[in-house]
Amino acid sequence: MKKVICIANQKGGVGKTTTAVNLSACLALADQNVLLLDIDPQGNATTGLGLPKNDDGANIYDALMEGVVEKAMIHDTAVDRLKAIPSTTDLYGAEIELVTFENREQRLLRLIQQVDEDFDFVLIDCPPSLGMLTLNALTAADSIVIPLQTEYYAMEGLSQLDKTIARVRDAFNPELKIEGILFTMVDGRTVLSHQVIKEVRDFYGDSVFTTIIPRNVRLSEAPSHGMPIILYDFKSKGADAYIDLANELIRNNKSVINSVVKDNAASGPGDRQDVEEVALEANTEENLDGGDYES
Ligand SMILES: Nc1ncnc2c1ncn2[C@@H]1O[C@H](COP(=O)(O)OP(=O)(O)OP(=O)(O)O)[C@@H](O)[C@H]1O
Ligand SMILES: [Mg+2]
Repeated sequence: MKKVICIANQKGGVGKTTTAVNLSACLALADQNVLLLDIDPQGNATTGLGLPKNDDGANIYDALMEGVVEKAMIHDTAVDRLKAIPSTTDLYGAEIELVTFENREQRLLRLIQQVDEDFDFVLIDCPPSLGMLTLNALTAADSIVIPLQTEYYAMEGLSQLDKTIARVRDAFNPELKIEGILFTMVDGRTVLSHQVIKEVRDFYGDSVFTTIIPRNVRLSEAPSHGMPIILYDFKSKGADAYIDLANELIRNNKSVINSVVKDNAASGPGDRQDVEEVALEANTEENLDGGDYES
């Protein structure tokens, strides 16, 4: 395993799931073996990948309760090298049930340790709260990606999350890093967007991803087709942005990544081309059969 990354922000609807699904898919296209864990009872990452929710005995709730990852829990997706453990509405009860376990904050960490050999990246899509499930994710993670909308109260939300991260570092996971703050659903035409981006960049500096995810209708349509954006509409601005993000993350993690994207990933402007080529192949193969694509 190279890295465990959780996608978290206690605020709802900021693009956590969209980022978890599409970053996972783009990393998989970049030859990384990726496992996406959907620990949100809403199960949006699960359905966004076209997987069944509430799959009895084969979901993340069962894994958390049993303390074991069984083979049947790890589902294939339409993207090669991307697997996922789906969510179930049973997870609504997990916040309370987890409390009864010893080392309750480490439950997810212990599961991830069981698949250490099989994956390069584990991404965790968190619910919009700072409860026991998110605490488990922050304890298990090497780093956190924080999706952020460019709105007036963005900084306030971040400082609350900062405090939680500091508490998790103190109590459970001293090595937890910020992988990056990611601006999502950005409408580049508004003055407010530019102001918020500048304010957050001034304060958080290098902890902010250079890549910005624009507001893009195709990104919001893709989940209802059960597909990541690179399969739904590879030519969209949304696909572009998440490919850029995957490449940026790969560049930032050069030291932990040894299987590079084709020949020259992580080496500057050439990166994107490589992930794009792989995605184009995926788009022209069986993944597209029977799909109802618009251009
Ligand atoms: N860049 C984007 N452009 C357009 N729509 C987007 C974009 N990113 C996300 N959305 C849409 O915004 C809504 C919220 O996004 P998403 O589900 O990813 O947020 P979330 O943080 O996971 O929400 P929750 O807190 O409920 O889990 C969804 O309908 C999604 O399709
Ligand atoms: Mg979500």
